[in-house]
Amino acid sequence: MAPLKASADAIAVAARVSRFTYAIRNIVAEAKKVEAAGLRVRYLNIGDPVAFGFKTPPHLIAAVERALRDGHNGYGPSPGIEPAREAVAAEYTARGFPASADRVFLTAGTSEGIDLALGALVDEGSEVLVPMPTYPLYTAVIARFGARALYYRTDPERGWAPDLDHLRSLVTPSTRVLVVIDPNNPTGASYSVATRRALLEVADRYGLAILADEVYGDLGFDGQVAPLGSLEPDAPIVSLSSLSKAYLAPGWRTGWMTVGRSPRLNDVVKAVAKLADGRLCSTVPMQYAVAAALTGDRSHQVLFRAALRERAALTVERLNAMPGVTCVAPTAAFYVMPRVALPPGRTDQDYVHALLGATGVLTVYGSGFGTAPEDGYLRIVYLAPPEELGEIYDLMAEFTAEYLRG
Ligand SMILES: Cc1ncc(COP(=O)(O)O)c(C=O)c1O
Repeated sequence: MAPLKASADAIAVAARVSRFTYAIRNIVAEAKKVEAAGLRVRYLNIGDPVAFGFKTPPHLIAAVERALRDGHNGYGPSPGIEPAREAVAAEYTARGFPASADRVFLTAGTSEGIDLALGALVDEGSEVLVPMPTYPLYTAVIARFGARALYYRTDPERGWAPDLDHLRSLVTPSTRVLVVIDPNNPTGASYSVATRRALLEVADRYGLAILADEVYGDLGFDGQVAPLGSLEPDAPIVSLSSLSKAYLAPGWRTGWMTVGRSPRLNDVVKAVAKLADGRLCSTVPMQYAVAAALTGDRSHQVLFRAALRERAALTVERLNAMPGVTCVAPTAAFYVMPRVALPPGRTDQDYVHALLGATGVLTVYGSGFGTAPEDGYLRIVYLAPPEELGEIYDLMAEFTAEYLRG
């Protein structure tokens, strides 16, 4: 072989990578620097209950263990194992959104569901309506497909409910999908029935498919939140969820997609099946936990919801007591999106980095979810135990007072 050409040129990276951003993890690099400098970092950036001591229910672990021992270690069917698909279909049906197992796909978390669903629904140049603020994987995946995200405002003055007039004003002939994240990350909101009906009406009026992210559907503080499809079982809804949040197993990367019964979605089912074939299957042993989760004991959720409600109340009280900080009370999940009244010229990233550098408290700047940098939003994951949250908010209060004094 001829000697390698001595070229100083780096191998080029695809341009689309620069459009793919995911602030929730990107910011960890900053935290590692702070840690290396000797400061204890409190990681309030990632919504992982297990990292804060919540335990995966033992009967789910037993189901996976059994699957491993029983030799379920080969490839599985691309759409998922039958008992898991049946359990998911039965779960949706029981909750008012009639579903059949042949329209259920087991996925590597909600995340892969987002990828498969958008892969089946959008072309280059298609537009997708996403809430603002949003869970950033939507915009990242939309960008990767060469499609365009249209941000519809959600309004902190109204408990972060979608601004329906703004939503309607964005629709063009290229708009294909309406993404609804309810309960919501990053705001912790859950929507009223009236709001949900209005979203369904918008989708119907403009012929849009609905991508319903319902991964926090079991984590309303007052109990389960019904799937969006229960309000209109014939609407063209694709619902996504997983074991990550409400079943306390995010590392298993196991979730599901349920395509509604609307015949308008028949081609979408075929398209998703085709895409799913290409990735062979999602992790097989973990799929054995799905039926265990959906048909077994869910008492852990009662305790989890109570813990979340308590931590949310503490969080909202402490944040609103800080001069210059306002926080809308969440009604579900484990996030809040407070706002800091920043001095002119400062951005949410400036504040979040300064807070991290001074106190070790790691949050995520709102602009990572689509809010304007000067608006001063940040997202806090409040899964830490109440005593630790108390310490964290002490640090934050002292720092913020100083910061806002300039
Ligand atoms: C709204 C939303 N969708 C999807 C995901 C991804 O979850 P999964 O672990 O199921 O892929 C998350 C994780 O934080 C989320 O908040």
